[in-house]
Amino acid sequence: MSVQAARGGAQRAAGERSSSSWTVLELLRWTTQHFSERGIETPRLDAECLLAFALGCDRLRLYVDYEKPVDESERARFRELVRERGSERVPVALLTGRREFWSLPLLVSRDVLVPRPDTETLVAAALACVPDRDAEVAVLDVGTGSGAIALAIASERAKARITATDISAAALAVARENAEALALPDRVRFLEGSLFEPVAGETFDLIVSNPPYVAERDRATLPPELRHEPASALFAGPDGTDVLRAIAAQVGAMLVPGGSVLVELDPRQADAVSGWFREANLSRIEVHRDAAGRKRVVSARRDS
Ligand SMILES: C[S@@+](CC[C@H](N)C(=O)[O-])C[C@H]1O[C@@H](n2cnc3c(N)ncnc32)[C@H](O)[C@@H]1O
Repeated sequence: MSVQAARGGAQRAAGERSSSSWTVLELLRWTTQHFSERGIETPRLDAECLLAFALGCDRLRLYVDYEKPVDESERARFRELVRERGSERVPVALLTGRREFWSLPLLVSRDVLVPRPDTETLVAAALACVPDRDAEVAVLDVGTGSGAIALAIASERAKARITATDISAAALAVARENAEALALPDRVRFLEGSLFEPVAGETFDLIVSNPPYVAERDRATLPPELRHEPASALFAGPDGTDVLRAIAAQVGAMLVPGGSVLVELDPRQADAVSGWFREANLSRIEVHRDAAGRKRVVSARRDS
């Protein structure tokens, strides 16, 4: 049911008012109910984000404007967003083109993975490896996507020399745009290519990666929202470990002695990846948990 289609019912409920009398609060209530019926996990939040986007204001402004009528052109814009979210299950971030990560406002598009809160676990663990805020370390982010991890580290470690790679030229274009929007373009070098190929012959103090790690065999049972993100950002072989395994096999040679690697993964992959790091003669293998207590990151160190 569209917002338009439901208007009759909502108008009757609201006392037969004119078609121009939808208020912010009424639209939010209707849309929250609609999203909930569609099985969307955060119906009220999604409704607020989309209405704020359609009205060109921030989300908190809606609370001040609860009783304000929303005009037809704004409602038409909102209706389309509600349809795409409700029926096609397009993620809110891809509808608004924005996502906050590590308190940085990032631009996102269908060429990149929408950065997830879980990945902040990786950023926090990586920063803990470089406690000195002025350390002049060389950092590599493999599979940078929107640039989320590289830019978060750049924003926290002013003297770090950061390289961010991706196999996707389109993703790198988004990452570069983000670096410019955040006034960090000179802090990050962006290179296209697979894994360590673009930085062959170099070594790093810190290597981070949130690689694709979803199992191909889980494809059919995944939330519909994932269909709107690039498959190359998500899937990595039958059990999802193809890229993680390649990183573990090659990363030792890319680290300086004393350097660390951190990878994000599915909790079910933590033991296997720890084992591959051990086989690669890395030490101090640690598993880091996300806010929900799930094994989310494995780190290791090259001793000598
Ligand atoms: C899960 S996304 C992570 C994006 C971003 N780092 C983040 O955390 O939001 C994985 C990224 O790895 C890239 N990728 C996939 N295979 C790769 C490879 N072999 N070498 C380099 N990048 C790769 C994808 O294009 C995608 O941008």
